Amino acid sequence: MNSAEQAGSKAATLIEALPYIRSYRNQVVVVKIGGAALDDERLARIVAEDLALMALVGIRLVVVHGGGPQVSEAMTDAGLEPTFVGGLRVTDEKAMELVRRVLLGSINSALVSRLQSTGLNPVGLSGSDGGLLEAEQIGGPEGQDLGRVGGVVSVRPDLANSLLDDGYTPVIASIAPGMDGNPLNVNADAVAGAIAAALGATKLVFLTNVEGLYRDLGDSGSLVSELKLEELKAMVSDLSSGMRPKAEAAVTALASGVGKVHILDGRVEHALLLEVFTEEGIGTQVLP
Ligand SMILES: Nc1ncnc2c1ncn2[C@@H]1O[C@H](COP(=O)(O)OP(=O)(O)O)[C@@H](O)[C@H]1O
Ligand SMILES: [Mg+2]
Repeated sequence: MNSAEQAGSKAATLIEALPYIRSYRNQVVVVKIGGAALDDERLARIVAEDLALMALVGIRLVVVHGGGPQVSEAMTDAGLEPTFVGGLRVTDEKAMELVRRVLLGSINSALVSRLQSTGLNPVGLSGSDGGLLEAEQIGGPEGQDLGRVGGVVSVRPDLANSLLDDGYTPVIASIAPGMDGNPLNVNADAVAGAIAAALGATKLVFLTNVEGLYRDLGDSGSLVSELKLEELKAMVSDLSSGMRPKAEAAVTALASGVGKVHILDGRVEHALLLEVFTEEGIGTQVLP
């Protein structure tokens, strides 16, 4: 390509984004950040740029994050063994303290600084702030005691809406107060799904560390590029580990009126931008 052609192609890319920018203006988009986009410095910076562009063209952006691998590392360092039941982390009091320290003290604040440096006005929150979330203690799939693990019971969207109205980007860590007021460890996918539903989001995006949803996890040819809510519902009980809470959250969100759910590969540079602002179909999209 000569330089005139290059310039033309750059301009074409920007023009291609126009109808998307127009249609997403003032719409709520919830992005759950997981996997590589949290722990790889370079990818984290790229994701922050994508999020900045989204918010700066007028999308009401809400960011949700967990921090599974980082919590596991902190537990191992503290001599605790990370244990999972049905994809949920068994969380005793000591582990809960580590979850708080890692999610709020480390991941949330790092994400907030990174977004701040891209020109956004991020505000770090957990489920306790402004009564955003209420959770209740839940057990494993066969009723196992998981300790301080919670499921979202209700969302009070006032604070998030006020922040969005004033041009701030809420960055929400997946910790929520239980009925006794003490914090519970809630899966971040579940938080993202509940928030998307309560805020009437147009789109819920999961940035993760796989290409998308596979029909058969062992078979890379079985990536599903598009499916309907009913098909996903039928698949949920067969899904394992980290994909299960995503599918459950997608079902909750779509059933409550969220327009579309995407599962994208956070290891792919600018996966978010490509999904939101171009015709490129990447990852898995779930339609109502
Ligand atoms: N059918 C499936 N398709 C894709 N991934 C799956 C599937 N079943 C289980 N998984 C697992 O889910 C993981 C993603 O969830 P998780 O590790 O919790 O990431 P995140 O940090 O994004 O929440 C994948 O890395 C994969 O190992
Ligand atoms: Mg997960």
